[in-house]
Amino acid sequence: MVHCGVEETIMPVPSALQTLTANEVVEKLRALRARQPVKYWAFYSSQLGGIVTDPALMIIPFDDHMVHRGHGIFDTAAIEAGKIYDLEAHLDRFIRSARNSKLRLPARDEMRDIIVRTTAASGRREGSIRYWASAGPGSLGLTPAAGAEPGFFVMISAGLAYPDSWYAQGLRVMTTTYPIKPPLYAVTKSVTYLPNVLMQMEAQERGLDNGVFIDEAGNVGESSNMNVAFVSADGTLKHPKFDHILSGCTSLRLLELATALQGPRLIKAIEVCDIPVAEARAAREMLLIGSSVKVAPIVEWDGKPIGDGKPGPIARALRELLTEDMRSGRDRLIEVPY
Ligand SMILES: Cc1ncc(COP(=O)(O)O)c(C=O)c1O
Repeated sequence: MVHCGVEETIMPVPSALQTLTANEVVEKLRALRARQPVKYWAFYSSQLGGIVTDPALMIIPFDDHMVHRGHGIFDTAAIEAGKIYDLEAHLDRFIRSARNSKLRLPARDEMRDIIVRTTAASGRREGSIRYWASAGPGSLGLTPAAGAEPGFFVMISAGLAYPDSWYAQGLRVMTTTYPIKPPLYAVTKSVTYLPNVLMQMEAQERGLDNGVFIDEAGNVGESSNMNVAFVSADGTLKHPKFDHILSGCTSLRLLELATALQGPRLIKAIEVCDIPVAEARAAREMLLIGSSVKVAPIVEWDGKPIGDGKPGPIARALRELLTEDMRSGRDRLIEVPY
């Protein structure tokens, strides 16, 4: 399938080719950032052995195995009102991803300390922390270079922002034409996000907000960088099993918090189970869940309304529970020593 026209595939390049000095390279990296400003506040690199705050210097060698073979992992946590939310859950998943990817990490306490100190260096009280582990540079081979030094990187940024309309009016999604990742790769948060990227681009090209992966058995998987869940017609909160999709830290926490809504009015029961597409389409509510989006209502899927086609009460109630937990969930917040 061709997803874009020929002209769009041509990249403009400068006609004069120069061999650059180190100073010219830094100048050019700064010019790149001036042409396209970014909201990156601080970056730690184990390769640099320190933190930089100039986005032009937030760089990684081209021969790093994460760059040219996709052999790297990442995870993301939120900074909310000057505290880091649920970092331990994100570190658990990062460590699992490293194991699945045969990557070496710094000790857990060291990673936590570097993350907290990089956050403090950013001075930011709201934002996003994304951190990566790579196999390191040293060759262009398929397996890591002999003696490659593994890399650990932390970026403090403004994070992803979504339009208010996603919460007020809800999102419109489509079943993606791209195949879901096989379970081992879906449960591992590796940097190889090609299916996820293509899924969201495909949806946007059709004027929609996002896509949904369906597994080979016809059960609902997840969205591009978010999980999906449903409220069935009888009021059961249903979430797909985590054996073939990413274990969303937000979903896992919400499944605990949602017990507060259990009762005759809102949620009748909570289930983590296979959800066949036909059953999912008949849901009263469909939810998009993740660290960046929090909880947003999906009101249309493949051109058909979900429930009455309007954002529902459970999406709102779960978003409120999560917001409250992010502000005051004492055992899940780390103070940042700014
Ligand atoms: C593929 C995928 N699924 C689900 C999620 C949601 O996970 P979390 O709630 O930890 O952000 C993410 C985001 O990290 C993701 O990339």
